[in-house]
Amino acid sequence: MDDPPPPPTTTTGWWSGAVGYQVYVRSFADSTGDGVGDLGGVLAHVDHIADLGVDYVWLNPVFPSPGLDHGYDVSDYTTIADEMGGMPAFEALRDALHDNGIRLVMDVVPGHTSSAHPWFVSARRGRDAPHRDFFVWRDPAPDGGPPTNWESVFGGSAWEYDERSGQYWMHRFLPDQPDLDWRNPAVRAAFDDILSLWFERGLDGFRVDVAQGLLADPEWADVPDVPPDMPRAQGNDLRLSGFMGRPETPALYRSWRRIADRHDALLLGEVALSSPEAVAAYLSDDLLHRAFFLPLQHTGWNRDEIAEMLVGAVAAGGGRFAWPQSSHDDPRAATRFGGGATGTRRALAFLHLVATLPGNPVILAGDELGLENGLIPAGLAQDPVSGRGETLVASRDGSRTPMPWDAERPNMGFTTGTPWLPLGANRAAADTVAHQRDDPGSPLQRTRRLLETRRGLTGMLATDDVTWLDLGPDLLGLRRGDVVVVCNFGPSTTVDVGRCRLLVASSDDAVVDDRDGVSIGRDTTVLLRAAEAVTSP
Ligand code: NOJ
Repeated sequence: MDDPPPPPTTTTGWWSGAVGYQVYVRSFADSTGDGVGDLGGVLAHVDHIADLGVDYVWLNPVFPSPGLDHGYDVSDYTTIADEMGGMPAFEALRDALHDNGIRLVMDVVPGHTSSAHPWFVSARRGRDAPHRDFFVWRDPAPDGGPPTNWESVFGGSAWEYDERSGQYWMHRFLPDQPDLDWRNPAVRAAFDDILSLWFERGLDGFRVDVAQGLLADPEWADVPDVPPDMPRAQGNDLRLSGFMGRPETPALYRSWRRIADRHDALLLGEVALSSPEAVAAYLSDDLLHRAFFLPLQHTGWNRDEIAEMLVGAVAAGGGRFAWPQSSHDDPRAATRFGGGATGTRRALAFLHLVATLPGNPVILAGDELGLENGLIPAGLAQDPVSGRGETLVASRDGSRTPMPWDAERPNMGFTTGTPWLPLGANRAAADTVAHQRDDPGSPLQRTRRLLETRRGLTGMLATDDVTWLDLGPDLLGLRRGDVVVVCNFGPSTTVDVGRCRLLVASSDDAVVDDRDGVSIGRDTTVLLRAAEAVTSP
């Protein structure tokens, strides 16, 4: 019998314009007292997530794992780790989120497994062992050393020698994260099954870990030295080009897209490449639906840098990019933007700005509180990159510290046990959800108001067309539909953008006056409804 025709692909879906909320589960809330956040903890705070007004939750990995890279070393893709609450906790959380109209997205890690995964345990038994060809093995170079000069993202060679078989296995990250060989159709089939399994269980999508990192250079050529004057981001692309961003990679997502579309599920790629055009190559009606534009989470508070990045990314992404301000891999926005009250104010201004771009804002849990990176006392570091010498990644612990819920409770309500990672020596009562809940000027309330306002901006959300406004060296302005947005990076100023009404601002320093125009304080973003719509209530 002929195969049934593939279902039509979907260009729009529930994810169009949807706002994401990233939950680093280990650090969100612990329901068992073992010091590690779990799905029961997320369930206990669904009201917080629903109040915030986000459309979907993305959970960092919750599959069984030895935890050497905190879940990004998966030893079983088919179930939920006991430590996270197992399948019953998944089902309860899925249902509670759905009851609140919120979708659930999890993290899938296709590039590598844990060395404890049964596939790799088998593969290591010898050259002819079952599943040997699921992984990337190469003979030593003529001098007995690694087959290529490729460096792992986490430092050192990307090759680990296996005494028993006399071959090296490849690992883009830790040696305990052996890379899968995506040129092997059996690997592709195994992941097709994994996706189908979870979507049939009611999962609404996957964030795809290192989506650009599934294939290696088939010529196994050494990568050239990075020229000293090359900008850091492009230098990293070049350094990793032996096994990241290979041009045949996007096509691998065709079968995933067919599976996802059958289930109305989202594929959101972590495509860690610096050029927006290179990221956009993974996005089309038969590849991934969406991809993060990660350079955004490396920016400082610099008008020109941010302007250049956003203009290029909006043009290349065509409404298909997700906009992260922070993540579990990079310093929180408030820290990157200078720290203290200034950093928090700027982070809010940044969120107000990117929330108006076509595509999907994604908020890292804790950023709605304006959190800075938590300060970790020496000796309590948890990130596996700590202590690995020179790596492309700095310690990520600071953005992973536990969520502060309530200063009156032990460990600010995160756990009754000993937190796996300290909350951060710099956490104060004013950082907690309990404190910010009733304060209209708090980051939490401002974030809620922004998302509530945004939901009502149907004229803005209906179009992906953006016009950038030339408003001088300190201001970054855009118009999308009937909404004008201005972010002020400089001192307080007044700007004339025509007759308009203030919708929402990231600080209290924003006033619209019919005669004088809009006055905007430093480090503040305003959303304005433009002239033709001003007469409507
Ligand atoms: C990207 C993830 O975001 C990061 O946390 C992880 O260490 C690497 N991928 C390896 O899976």
